[in-house]
Amino acid sequence: MKLLAGNSNRALAEAIGQHLKLSFTKASVRRFADNEVFVEIQENVRGEDMFVIQSTSFPANDNLMELLVIIDALRRSSARRITAVLPYFGYARQDRKPGPRTPISAKLVANLITEAGANRVLTVDLHAGQIQGFFDIPTDNLYAQPVMVKDIIDYLDGEDLMVISPDVGGVVRARALAKRINADLAIVDKRRERAGESEVMNIIGDVTGRTCLLVDDIVDSGGTLCNAADALLQKGAKAVYAYVTHGVLSGGAVARIRDSKLKSVVITDSIAATDEIAKCKNIRRISIAPLLGEAIERISHEKSVSSLFD
Ligand code: R5P
Repeated sequence: MKLLAGNSNRALAEAIGQHLKLSFTKASVRRFADNEVFVEIQENVRGEDMFVIQSTSFPANDNLMELLVIIDALRRSSARRITAVLPYFGYARQDRKPGPRTPISAKLVANLITEAGANRVLTVDLHAGQIQGFFDIPTDNLYAQPVMVKDIIDYLDGEDLMVISPDVGGVVRARALAKRINADLAIVDKRRERAGESEVMNIIGDVTGRTCLLVDDIVDSGGTLCNAADALLQKGAKAVYAYVTHGVLSGGAVARIRDSKLKSVVITDSIAATDEIAKCKNIRRISIAPLLGEAIERISHEKSVSSLFD
């Protein structure tokens, strides 16, 4: 087993390396003056089981291209097997045609990764489980929930907890967390009654006096979480926390969360944190490095990955 990391999330890659007690394959991943990606593997990888760690997060296209070029370099260096480890799979939200004459970019990106030469994919909390099927190679989709549950027990034990799905699409994820921590479930139902009128937030379930845990796969602009928190507090919730796997946090998201009524937003380290995120008083990060490290070890030793979640 050998590890190689792109530049998108060095901190997470190093934490995975520490967990596995493995150093990284010597390689140079750099840019030509015109920004073309150039990769040089500086040690023999012939016959090796290679794991390439790279999130296709901001800047998504640069990081994706780096991943593709690294995979190509490994394939041409006769690696035995190449697993693309994607802690965050960018483009996942483009998983269907939202209108006529639009692309399904998640499928296109899956094709690119496969065509570059990946033999397997290891990722975390895909935006929709069925994206696994976009890859015609074995794909393991890990769940960050066990890491979240540990944090919830550490920080919120003894609270009267209620898990909240911030939209109807997230109910399956929220129900799974509610089951794991033995809590009730409520749903934020966003509706626009008539075109041109603003969205109305209805809460399905009684949140009065409850400590609410919003759970989601992605926080991007932060609008979904902040609006849901306002609606829950208006309906009498005692406090609102959020647990989200991927902190995309683009534009003014960090400021929006900092100024919101959310007590804390807990994200994982699937995407590298900016200084602004690291300094934000109500954003906290938990690590999925041990989870990914364990899964890498199991894949390399041909052991079950699903039993990680039993
Ligand atoms: C939507 O389906 C996703 O699960 C997230 O709720 C969404 O991407 C969050 O976006 P934002 O933070 O911009 O509201």
